[in-house]
Amino acid sequence: MSVRRLADKQPETFEFTPDNLAWAQAQIDKYPSGRQASAVIPLLWKAQAQNDYWLPRAAIEKVATMLDMPTIRVLEVATFYTMFNLEPVGRHFIQLCGTTPCMLRGANDIRAVLEKRIGQQRHVSADGKFAWLEVECLGACCNAPMVQINDDYYEDLNVENFNALLDDLAAGRPVKKGSQLGRVSSEPEPGKGSTLTEGALFDGSLVGSWKARFEEDRARAEAAAKAAAEAAAANPAEKK
Ligand code: FES
Repeated sequence: MSVRRLADKQPETFEFTPDNLAWAQAQIDKYPSGRQASAVIPLLWKAQAQNDYWLPRAAIEKVATMLDMPTIRVLEVATFYTMFNLEPVGRHFIQLCGTTPCMLRGANDIRAVLEKRIGQQRHVSADGKFAWLEVECLGACCNAPMVQINDDYYEDLNVENFNALLDDLAAGRPVKKGSQLGRVSSEPEPGKGSTLTEGALFDGSLVGSWKARFEEDRARAEAAAKAAAEAAAANPAEKK
């Protein structure tokens, strides 16, 4: 378990932007009177997002005031959940999944890129733009290896496309979220699908086919019953 402390160097004040303040008030309004503390995690999350993905003491105190909570209660939440960063993490905070599926698919190569370009984990790069941390499974194993950067996932990484991604982020260019190989969600790469290739599975022609089968079975049963009734009527003696 890591020790989680507030950063040594802290800004004097923290204020939500007008937009974020309105958003925060909308979260608070979701709860009945006296239960405003239930909004503590969303407010801390928004404060962190506004402050380059780390939570200064002033933001924790601000949230405590807004929710009428003792500061220590908000501090407990902020220091308990590892999704809250308590010290600067650069403009782009990279969380590298190092769990088995990602490791088997090349996470160690991605880690080598991070070490070469940024340095050790929990260290902000010299330009203040990047920091990284190895974490456990982020739930995108189908598209391993992957990283989370701030709020978004970047998947199907390799050394080449990950370096290009970091170059684009450093230069402020727009980047593509999700699969870096062009996959849609976790579907096969374009043109490489080898399963579920039967067109009838997707063109709607099979929809309701089970109903048609039931109707055919019912019609057969009715025809058999009718034939039996006619045979019985034609030979009443056999009925006894
Ligand atoms: S193992 Fe990496 S996302 Fe699950």
